Amino acid sequence: MSIKLNDKYVSSFIRAHEYEYIQPQVTMADQKLRSKTGPGKDFLGWVHLPEEYDKEEFARIQKAAKKIQGSCDVLIVIGIGGSYLGARAVIEYLKSPLYNTLKKDTPDIYFAGNCISADSLNELLAICEGKDICVNVISKSGTTTEPAIAFRVFRALLEKKYGKAGAKDRIFVTTDKARGTLKKFATEEGYETFVVPDDVGGRFSVLSAVGLLSIAVAGIDIEQLMAGAAAASHAYSDPDLNKNDCYRYAAIRNILYRKGKVTEVLASYEPFSAMFHEWWKQLYGESEGKDGKGIYPASVIFSTDLHSLGQFIQDGNRNLFETVVDIADTGSSYEIPMDPDNIDGLNFLSGKDLNLVKKTAMQGTILAHVDGGVPNILIEVSEKNEFVLGELLYFFELSCAISGYLNSVNPFDQPGVESYKKNMFALLGKPGYEDLKAELEERLKN
Ligand code: PA5
Repeated sequence: MSIKLNDKYVSSFIRAHEYEYIQPQVTMADQKLRSKTGPGKDFLGWVHLPEEYDKEEFARIQKAAKKIQGSCDVLIVIGIGGSYLGARAVIEYLKSPLYNTLKKDTPDIYFAGNCISADSLNELLAICEGKDICVNVISKSGTTTEPAIAFRVFRALLEKKYGKAGAKDRIFVTTDKARGTLKKFATEEGYETFVVPDDVGGRFSVLSAVGLLSIAVAGIDIEQLMAGAAAASHAYSDPDLNKNDCYRYAAIRNILYRKGKVTEVLASYEPFSAMFHEWWKQLYGESEGKDGKGIYPASVIFSTDLHSLGQFIQDGNRNLFETVVDIADTGSSYEIPMDPDNIDGLNFLSGKDLNLVKKTAMQGTILAHVDGGVPNILIEVSEKNEFVLGELLYFFELSCAISGYLNSVNPFDQPGVESYKKNMFALLGKPGYEDLKAELEERLKN
């Protein structure tokens, strides 16, 4: 595997026998997952997805991606939560957070419908002026308000620009195979559709059509991404904590959680990981944070955040642990130049690669944080490419499911997400919510 868990920097916080003691619980969590008998058992489609995906649809995704590449300057990807974070994370990680401003032969990709902001929508509309546009709208339920509003706006824009028939050729819908308003609408209008599998929840869906279409449009090799995930699914099939780094990560998290380490900070030294962290935060936050339990998932990009949150991590409330993702070879290097005048006193670094400075900063930071009482889990990733990212995505998905079972929650539902929607609908006057509207308005008044 291209991923290695290094638990050296948690060893002063966890005694050897604790792994032994938690092993039976990990084995049981694994059995629940593999035999599909645990909570949320109807949402385990992602476990075998890297191999058992719909090959015909996969070919259609690749074909549609080519068509989009050839027919537009801008692809607007509409979706929220699990319906957008995975694709954006993969594109920014493998291409760049500055993907849209780079010189390239693939379309710009913008994400819409993931907030309720007139500023953001107006900005995107301005960007689209004079450009050829395609749209991929993604919603499993087909009823989520944020993407529904954005789709209404961009569909109207496309129909105005290209006519109804022309727009039809530029709109790609990813939704449930049979149910929901979006599916019904897509069928009526004759849009090309892709499926969010019934048994795959939003935050576990990056390796389905949900993520793959826009990822392929960005020119990323989705076959390699799937192959990496498939390799991980084989590598992490033995529940033995001494042989399974993915399960060991879940076990360490759980052991630390029970010692009061209730916040996990995912750290990386590469800005291209920022959206990957957002994907990870949704995955763990929505899967584990329920029934009054769960580890709060936070994230930092170092060394940037060593100059902001670094103080807190070093010296603040000791209720946290860190998980550091260290990518050995990102494919980039930069030699620090020599300055004959050495006015800045930096010549002791001349000739050294920036990667060495980064590595040293990481090592120094880990030791300082461990000394400060913060356990550090180190995830060593060999290189940055599609295959290895596929492994990493699967590593975190599987570990998250085992973590959820270790903490006796259903990792595959998200009942809490509904609460705000209900209140928002009621306050906005959606038919059917009249009583709740009156009750909430009364509370707001008081
Ligand atoms: O992970 C999840 O299930 C959620 O984040 C959903 O993806 C999100 O709420 C969007 O839902 P939908 O795809 O139904 O529009």
